[in-house]
Formats: sequence, C-alpha cells, structure tokens
Amino acid sequence: MQYPQLIDIPMEFVTDLKQTFESTSGHISETMDKRTDIQKYDSVTNVVKHLGYNPTHIQGDNFYRHPHPYFPHSDAPKDDPEYHLHIVVPIIKPYPDTQYFVVFDQMSKIGRATYIGFTTYDLNFEANKTIRGDITSDYITEHVDDGIDSDFHEKYLPYPIEWYNGLSGQAVEWKPGSAIIFPSNRVHCTGIMPPDTEKIGVSIRLKLNTPVYEL
Ligand SMILES: [Fe+2]
Repeated sequence: MQYPQLIDIPMEFVTDLKQTFESTSGHISETMDKRTDIQKYDSVTNVVKHLGYNPTHIQGDNFYRHPHPYFPHSDAPKDDPEYHLHIVVPIIKPYPDTQYFVVFDQMSKIGRATYIGFTTYDLNFEANKTIRGDITSDYITEHVDDGIDSDFHEKYLPYPIEWYNGLSGQAVEWKPGSAIIFPSNRVHCTGIMPPDTEKIGVSIRLKLNTPVYEL
C-alpha cells in the first residue's frame, strides 16, 4: 500500500461528524478545541466501517478545531509504531482557498513528537514530546538535507523552510468528503492556512492486528 491514501466518503458521514462535534463540548487547550474518546460516537465508527476497518481497533485521537497550522509531528506510540494507522477526516473548511495536508516520507524513531522548529512560543503538547530546533537523524528515519525546495515550501508550508529540514514529502488536498490515510508514525503537518480562519476535522488512530508497513 502506498501512503498517503485518499478515499472519498459520502457527505452524509461528514454531516454526522459535524453534528457530533457541535453537540459535544471538550477540553480546550491553548492550540485547539478537542474532543477525545471518539470511539463512542456512531458518526466516527460509521466512517471507520465505511473505509473497511474494524471500529474496535480505534485507539485514540480526536476531533479538532484549530486556527493555526499544526507543526510537523508523529502520532504512533514508541513501543509498537508499525501497527498504528491514521485516518484524517476533514469536516469543515469555511474558506474557498485550497487547503493542503502534508505527509512526509520520514517516520519517527522516538514515538509521538512535535517539531516546533525555532518558534519562540512556549508550547507543550499533552501526549507528544516537544522538539525544539533542528529535526535531526536521531529523531526520524531517512533524514535528508534540503528535501524540500522553495516551490514546495512556498505553496504548502506555513513556517520557515529551515524548520522542515530533514524532511521530504507530499502534499494532498484536505477537503470535506475525502479521508486521508497514512501510518501514524509518518511525520505530517497542516499546510498553509489563510489568516483568521479555523477548520474542523477528526483524526482517528487505529491499532491494527498486522503491521501497517514493515519497519
Ligand atoms: Fe497528527
């Protein structure tokens, strides 16, 4: 299987997810408005079933509404990363601009981690280890220098190009009606977002019985 994989999902599933998000309240951190324990919602399990996976394999992740693009990060636990698969389901994109989502080729060597580059913000994430500064080969597989050229950076990536050094990858469209599937251990991030907007989606992490990919 080649990842990321894009699969169309009927808009009624997206509408159901929107209703779940709007009819619940959740923990609000400094960077997002989240709903966790997503496996209890039929709107989530229905999408998982539709995509051909078993809802009992849902292990985590959350609904999110956020105004800032997420930094590059990986979401698989360190102990058994190869069994975890991510499904990102866009729900609301309230602006006409094309929104991208970037999946990098590299996999985490250190479990869940968020690479915040040289931001001056004091950020700490609940589950993810926060890595400030360069992304080095200690953290990721297949580290490459200058794997991202200025065209790719200008079109897709919101933060300074140096913050992504070590990575190479692919941008896919993030739009309601299309699910994005990739190994949870692959580094990924939000593409450029228009200013003063926010978008809503859900990411679902499955733990499969067989490896998603060979390490
Ligand atoms: Fe993620």
